Amino acid sequence: MELRRAAITGIAGYTPDTVLTNADLEKMVDTNDEWIVSRTGIKQRHIMKEPGKASSDMGAEAVKVLLEKTNTDPADVEMLICATVTGDMIFPDTANTICDKVGIKNAYGFDVNAACSGFLYSLTTASKFIETGTHKKVIVVGVDMMSSIVDYTDRATCIIFGDGAGAVMLEPSDEGYGVQDSLLKADGSGRQYLHMKAGGSLHPATLETVAAREHFAFQEGRTVFKHAVKGMVDTMKDVMERNNLVRDDINWVVPHQANLRIIEYVGSMFDFPAERVMNNIAMYGNTTSATIPLAIRDYESQLKKGDNLLLTAFGGGFTWGTTYLKWAYNG
Ligand code: UT7
Repeated sequence: MELRRAAITGIAGYTPDTVLTNADLEKMVDTNDEWIVSRTGIKQRHIMKEPGKASSDMGAEAVKVLLEKTNTDPADVEMLICATVTGDMIFPDTANTICDKVGIKNAYGFDVNAACSGFLYSLTTASKFIETGTHKKVIVVGVDMMSSIVDYTDRATCIIFGDGAGAVMLEPSDEGYGVQDSLLKADGSGRQYLHMKAGGSLHPATLETVAAREHFAFQEGRTVFKHAVKGMVDTMKDVMERNNLVRDDINWVVPHQANLRIIEYVGSMFDFPAERVMNNIAMYGNTTSATIPLAIRDYESQLKKGDNLLLTAFGGGFTWGTTYLKWAYNG
């Protein structure tokens, strides 16, 4: 008999209506469309502009669609894990706020802060609750409202990030579909290259931290780029090797959408044809925890039951990893 696996049985996403184009950014900082497209592949991003709206609202919109698509009674959901670095508040968590906003009353949840690898960390964590048989319906949400921590005077960071949410339903599969393997990694010494300086216990908010613009995402892009490529390629290689997978066994690569050059490089290292490497960065930019579920959502109609997917990510922390997934339904 096959092991019980945690299968994705539905996927949904949400991006806010307001679109921030490269032409808009040209009016805000010293940049231009040609530089942004050639260095990142990004043409536009969606930004949450509605007053009073936060990450939980985007997550809730994605979860509402997910519940409808999977025909799930909110009362049957047992757990919701939310990957985010832009929770509504430092506490409480955003997972339980999302549950409250969509009427999920019999579940508990928590947030996972692993930056751009947050969705993979959360998916892997959630899968264990299904595999052990203690839970039958677990939702994983990846959401970030990066516009709330992006410095729109810093041309090196403001051009890459956008807002969005993606959500998946995980249920048991006795036929072997779902999460097969995950290799997750971290190196806390990388925190100096990608972080938000103030607002935590190290540097609580003061007038000085606000004046010094320390409540925004700081990134040393070139260093992060190099580590991202290596981390994604190394973990993909290890996951393929330990699961006896060769290139042609993989139907889809789903890289975190941070930069088109990273996506293309990762694909080329294994000689994957470009059409099998998911890529929607032009439309949304880097939505941090949401990039992977939003990419799968956009390719869902092309997915077939039994397809092998390699999900790979790298982010602040540093955190990184690769998950091998067998798709459970025809899109
Ligand atoms: O998602 C989590 C993990 N994050 C990532 O994986 C992101 C990884 N990093 C990157 O994607 C890229 O490093 C960036 C897109 C952030 C930056 O691209 P880059 O090719 O690494 O540029 P750079 O920082 O090395 O800067 C090259 C030049 C500099 O000018 P000089 O010093 O050569 O004269 C920058 O000042 O480009 C300049 N520059 C810009 N020029 C026009 C930086 N940002 C811009 C801009 N428009 N927006």
